[in-house]
Amino acid sequence: MTEELKPLFSREDIAETVARLAREISADYADKQLVLVGVLKGAFVFLADLIRDLTIPGEIDFVRLASYGSRKESSGEVVVKKDVEITLAGKDVLIVEDIVDTGLSLKFLMDHLRTHNPSSLRVCALVDKRFRRKIEVTVDYTGFAIDDGFIVGYGIDFNERYRTLPDICVID
Ligand code: IMP
Ligand code: MG
Repeated sequence: MTEELKPLFSREDIAETVARLAREISADYADKQLVLVGVLKGAFVFLADLIRDLTIPGEIDFVRLASYGSRKESSGEVVVKKDVEITLAGKDVLIVEDIVDTGLSLKFLMDHLRTHNPSSLRVCALVDKRFRRKIEVTVDYTGFAIDDGFIVGYGIDFNERYRTLPDICVID
């Protein structure tokens, strides 16, 4: 099965956006105990680039969620498949997500991470599909806002394909 891919954000667009996010985060967390929590697998490339543009220190951890639903839409039935391993209590946690769509996964993850008692909890998302929300969640740092469309590349997949693409494309 092959899909048609249309370029949406080039690697240059992405690099510029990641650098801007890193500047904002570096300024805001200058005197904090930053822990970046990447959401596997989609955010791994984004997180890797983002941390190398930061000018402040930070710890890194990962979570992996599974959501039951159709392949292109999350159902809101989310479970933690891999939890954080470092201590979050008293630290300033920043969730690093690839995409916020309905918001259901993020809402679940925020509720879950709050049980670890961080002193603050915020969200950085590379792509925000803000008009598709089914639940209200705040994205504090947004890379790109898009209205709709299914995207792949730069770590983001469709059925485990296309993660290796350096640019972000829309699937037709
Ligand atoms: P939500 O719970 O509906 O907000 O879904 C968020 C998750 O669904 C993201 O973290 C992605 O893993 C996945 N997702 C949502 N939209 C897309 C897309 O356009 N391409 C690939 N994955 C997506
Ligand atoms: Mg995800």
